[in-house]
Amino acid sequence: MPSYIIIGASRGLGYEWLRHLSRDSENIIVGLVRNPDAVEAKLASDSIRNVNIIKADLTDHKSLSAAVAKTADLTGGSVDYLIINGVHQDPAGDFLSPTEFIGREELLHDYMVKAMETNVVGVMYGINAYLPLVRKSSVKKITVISTGLADLELALQGNMSFFVTYSAVKAALNMVVAKYSIDLRADGVTIIALSPGLVNTQEAPPPAEIMPRIQIMMQDCLAVNPEFKGPIEPAESVKMQLKVIETTTIKQSGEFLSHFGNKQWI
Ligand SMILES: NC(=O)c1ccc[n+]([C@@H]2O[C@H](COP(=O)([O-])OP(=O)(O)OC[C@H]3O[C@@H](n4cnc5c(N)ncnc54)[C@H](OP(=O)(O)O)[C@@H]3O)[C@@H](O)[C@H]2O)c1
Repeated sequence: MPSYIIIGASRGLGYEWLRHLSRDSENIIVGLVRNPDAVEAKLASDSIRNVNIIKADLTDHKSLSAAVAKTADLTGGSVDYLIINGVHQDPAGDFLSPTEFIGREELLHDYMVKAMETNVVGVMYGINAYLPLVRKSSVKKITVISTGLADLELALQGNMSFFVTYSAVKAALNMVVAKYSIDLRADGVTIIALSPGLVNTQEAPPPAEIMPRIQIMMQDCLAVNPEFKGPIEPAESVKMQLKVIETTTIKQSGEFLSHFGNKQWI
């Protein structure tokens, strides 16, 4: 019975992972979320019963250690697939470019530090906490969800200066993944940074002030890929991500891949 741990599973792609994996009754599924009551209510209303929810916060390593102990009871002491999906985002701040922070240094500090705290330090807390269980598996796969926006070539080719804090922090995360792969190769642990594609995870329409930015972003995407048809749905992204995760081998450990399993980000 394969075990899947999704950290940051309350909504968006994280929740879609729970929904998708729950279709196979053989899977042992554990979702880590900050507010279990709300997620448990959502699962019940979606008639999803074979998912275990544990409270944890990526910024709180003690909560992750406590979650690991509870996970071990559910899985029998090992973890096959660890997927770290949670992210700190700020809809207004994320769209800013570097020069738009001129004269707004406190804002820059705030956005960058908060993103770093969850999206890099928190992810490392998550990996470190779960490593003993991953090492006990015969599968040993860790997936860290990144973004194509962290790809240098895409940024330059697409003329994308927006999203500077988010992109920079995810680029740092990609390097962290590469470093882990070196430490963990001898243990047979495969770790990758995986971009899910551009995915429609909005629960409500975006604030009016960022709509022009979204339109520019869509034009930039079209400039990079004239076949680009807009964001994909979470269900499609998760299926594609799972295929990449399942087919990736230890030889690719440390790589930064798209949902296509290559460097095509959109
Ligand atoms: N959607 C896209 O187009 C896209 C594109 C590229 C990459 N990605 C990446 O894909 C992943 C999922 O994106 P999404 O669009 O589904 O995001 P989302 O809808 O904003 O959901 C973010 C998730 O992260 C959780 N989270 C935030 N801070 C956390 C913390 N400190 N501890 C634990 N969980 C925390 C949230 O939980 P709460 O409900 O508690 O806030 C929520 O479940 C992210 O890593 C994102 O960077 C998404």
